[in-house]
Amino acid sequence: MLILGLQGSPRKGGNTDTFLATFLDKAAHTGAAVKTIQVARAGIVPCKGCGYCETHGTCVIADDPMSTEIFGLMREADLVVAATPVFFYGISAQLKVLIDRCQTLWSRKYVYKLKDPLAATRKGMLFSVAASQGRQLFDGIHLTTKYFFDAINAQFSHALTYRGVESKGAIRQHEGLAADVDEAIQQTVLPLVKRKNVLFVSPTGACRAPMAAAIAQQRYGDCIRTGFGALRPASELSASMVRAMQRVGMDMGYRNPQNVEQALSGTTPNLAIAIGESVDKIPVPGIKTVQWSLPEPVLTDDAAMDRLRLEIEANADKLMQSFN
Ligand SMILES: Cc1cc2nc3c(=O)[nH]c(=O)nc-3n(C[C@H](O)[C@H](O)[C@H](O)COP(=O)(O)O)c2cc1C
Repeated sequence: MLILGLQGSPRKGGNTDTFLATFLDKAAHTGAAVKTIQVARAGIVPCKGCGYCETHGTCVIADDPMSTEIFGLMREADLVVAATPVFFYGISAQLKVLIDRCQTLWSRKYVYKLKDPLAATRKGMLFSVAASQGRQLFDGIHLTTKYFFDAINAQFSHALTYRGVESKGAIRQHEGLAADVDEAIQQTVLPLVKRKNVLFVSPTGACRAPMAAAIAQQRYGDCIRTGFGALRPASELSASMVRAMQRVGMDMGYRNPQNVEQALSGTTPNLAIAIGESVDKIPVPGIKTVQWSLPEPVLTDDAAMDRLRLEIEANADKLMQSFN
């Protein structure tokens, strides 16, 4: 369970930064993993408006942090917190650069009609702060954030906006901030944290484990959070598995095989599922582990890949019956 904070102010230790750190610190105490992108210092290249993503499904700027890291984190995140000061009645230019690059995720959703496995449960939260008292101060920010969250498949769950906050750190004195943070944690974070964690492990993490994790996540994301790990991670997901998932509208983009330790990232799964390996090889001691003896996939055979997907769907349904 990951909360991704997008800190959109260029001012280090300013109000946006301070609020986000306070919120994420509290959220971490609930058991969530948290990660902050200091957007102003991330080196994100602005969108070129070239249309490449609409014809290729990926961004033409392939070597900046947006493509190499941040798209992946946005796919992994269960909650995305967009945090920005009001600059001329809009979001900061720095955060806007990141948002514009999400045209790639918009294209995957609306041009390619693909759904990422966390689409049904991912939440989006807005935090914003402004110096003056203007009635429409946050209108532009709300609109941009609404369409940003839609593109990244996040339901807009909560907005915390504060007027009359100008000097660095003044947000600390804002009455009601602690109560607002507690309420947001209760409403938005806790329902996501209390889901059961299920870890799928396969030898290379390129095909069966990511497929199973995505299918179980999509079907039962309101009660489980899945992850996948490998004993010896391959360098990328199997292209034929990715195509098999695309045939049923599922998006496996911006995901990579990872080892079991990375997959755990501080969380303790309630259940581990060993696919294609004997249970005793799974390095998660003390965790209940079951085996799914799914056949080694024939990567060149689309029909076999579709059968594997169906078998995993049936296994996921059985798994959930045993949970309930
Ligand atoms: C370039 C710029 C534009 C701003 N525009 C507005 C504005 O339109 N309305 C407003 O109330 N405050 C405006 N402010 C004030 C900031 O929103 C305010 O100081 C905020 O607390 C800064 O947050 P930070 O410390 O996270 O950067 C602006 C500040 C800057 C630097």
